[in-house]
Amino acid sequence: MKIAIYPGSFDPITYGHLDILKNAAGIFDKVIIAVAHNGEKRGFLSTQERVRLIKESVKGMPNVKVDSFEGLTIEYAKKIGANVLIRGLRAVSDFEYEMQLSQTNSALCDEIKTVFLTTKPEYNFISSSTIKEILQNGGDISKFVPEPVFKFLTGKKNAV
Ligand code: COA
Repeated sequence: MKIAIYPGSFDPITYGHLDILKNAAGIFDKVIIAVAHNGEKRGFLSTQERVRLIKESVKGMPNVKVDSFEGLTIEYAKKIGANVLIRGLRAVSDFEYEMQLSQTNSALCDEIKTVFLTTKPEYNFISSSTIKEILQNGGDISKFVPEPVFKFLTGKKNAV
């Protein structure tokens, strides 16, 4: 059974991430989308909020599971028996960082391979920071994030 993890901060998940996830779900038997919890870095959303919004956004994708982890991605991958790490590539600018991350992970555990998937061109420019900036400046984020994220973020902003 080929089990892949798609790790990231997902603060919040966007249509760009979902595009990668859908493609991965079509290739692997099971895909675990995993929020990396970094205790030292306070995000916009809590880890619990990110996990909940991802769960609501992946309804209807039966071979996708949602989880969170602390520490090294590769250790988490070993613990859950994953064989593959999924990373998304949007533009050439992602390449250098992704290459370094993939080689570091290979040096830590060569049995777990990184597979890169590309996004659709219309999602190339999206990032979680862009979404937060548009939201904080009163712009419309509905084109960039799944509906549960849109509802939660606009509610959160209106509550501030
Ligand atoms: N669509 C939209 N946005 C995307 C995207 C896509 N397909 N792919 C990446 N992004 C964006 C993210 O939203 C994020 O935007 P932001 O910087 O504005 O928040 C940015 O690109 C990078 O995000 P992501 O790809 O999720 O990487 P990350 O830096 O958040 O996560 C980890 C990287 C968590 C996987 C990595 O740091 C890690 O493995 N950490 C655990 C510790 C570890 O094992 N380190 C490696 C060995 S030292």
